[in-house]
Amino acid sequence: MSRRIPAYQPIRSFNPFIMKPINVGLLGIGTVGGGTFTVLKRNQEEITRRAGRGIVIRMIADRDVEKARRIAGDDVIITADANEVVTNLDIDIVVELIGGYTIAKELTLKAIENGKHVITANKALLASHGTEIFAAAQKKGVMVAFEAAVAGGIPIIKALREGLTANRIEWIAGIINGTSNFILSEMRDKGLTFDTVLKQAQKLGYAEADPTFDVEGIDAAHKLTIMAAIAFGIPMQFNKAYTEGITRLTREDIRYAEELGYRIKLLGITRRTAKGIELRVHPTLIPARRLIANVEGVMNAVVVKGDAVGATLYYGAGAGAEPTASSVVADLVDVTRMHTADPKHRVPHLAFQPDLLSDTPILAMEEVETSYYLRLRVMDKPGALADITRVLADLGISIDAMVQKEPSEGEDQVDIIMLTHLAIEKNINAAIAKIQKLPLMTGKVTRIRLEELNSK
Ligand code: HSE
Repeated sequence: MSRRIPAYQPIRSFNPFIMKPINVGLLGIGTVGGGTFTVLKRNQEEITRRAGRGIVIRMIADRDVEKARRIAGDDVIITADANEVVTNLDIDIVVELIGGYTIAKELTLKAIENGKHVITANKALLASHGTEIFAAAQKKGVMVAFEAAVAGGIPIIKALREGLTANRIEWIAGIINGTSNFILSEMRDKGLTFDTVLKQAQKLGYAEADPTFDVEGIDAAHKLTIMAAIAFGIPMQFNKAYTEGITRLTREDIRYAEELGYRIKLLGITRRTAKGIELRVHPTLIPARRLIANVEGVMNAVVVKGDAVGATLYYGAGAGAEPTASSVVADLVDVTRMHTADPKHRVPHLAFQPDLLSDTPILAMEEVETSYYLRLRVMDKPGALADITRVLADLGISIDAMVQKEPSEGEDQVDIIMLTHLAIEKNINAAIAKIQKLPLMTGKVTRIRLEELNSK
């Protein structure tokens, strides 16, 4: 006779709905702040059940007090002075959504000094001043949570810091700037120029009014710096990241790459090598059959290769009000759950215990080994190709594939496209410098790095 299992009786030792809620102060109620307010309100009941306490936005600081009032209603204290929020005794958690380095840094450190936990979406601040901020938080026994700082709504920080904690991370490759991915998608799909699509992106509100951070790879490098720190247990070192944007990419390169079975994406790549850690953002050819090559528009995706799990892929919205709010609120729940925990036993900011960070160097870009796409414009004359291949051979650079395009009607110049096997960046630099001086060369050599991203 089988034994009957008694019906499950949940043990309710406390009622989260009658406990004092966690009080939140919001610095900035722009796109992400507004989204955070909406999501917290809409999902209040479930969030409380998950967090074990209510989470309530009590104060908002924004220069536009009227706008803040319209969004938040009358139950929230609104002020134009952010200092009032970070020093208020009743505020438990400060959510910093101002952005930038100077004021955001001051306010973050002040909030920490006043014993507040801080949640931030500010990747620029963390990538440049994270080490100082985490040390201050550590000293004060408060948390700084930053899921929203990398890849918007994708919980990549959580995945790296907790879900993959068993692994030795080998490399990470990510499409982590939605604006530039949108531009590349449109250039490929519709054969448009960079400038035309950038204007569209600005019109659609994807790109910043000053889109330099997006298209020059700086925003991606901020996010990559944060991921590398967590993946490898190293301090934040944004100043050592190699950064190259998409502004010089042409429709021709995108088309030639396509003909060879590749897509061009702005990738952030960080990889552990015997000599150090690669930390680089640049346009990259990737095989069109890889899932990540098919991430289009403003979406983000990150591939993480761990020694135990293999390659894992994280995909989702990298920006926008509610997707980013999803990460901010997840941090609010996390901090609420850990609020009373002993600071020494919380998940460390950078996944590794702060006194056990490694001093593995970041590799200089010259030392990085990767493959290359080279496009050369030459006179269609005997010896042109031989001269080029001789330079490559002399520097030990091996050619993987090569295409010579037909010259256009009436033209005496042709495009030669080469894909190389793995080579060291400094050798490619030397080869390009020499090729550039060959008598039959016309125009500049275009170089785009290429990554197979296979799970080896
Ligand atoms: N400007 C960023 C992007 C938004 O385009 O991805 C989120 O960081």
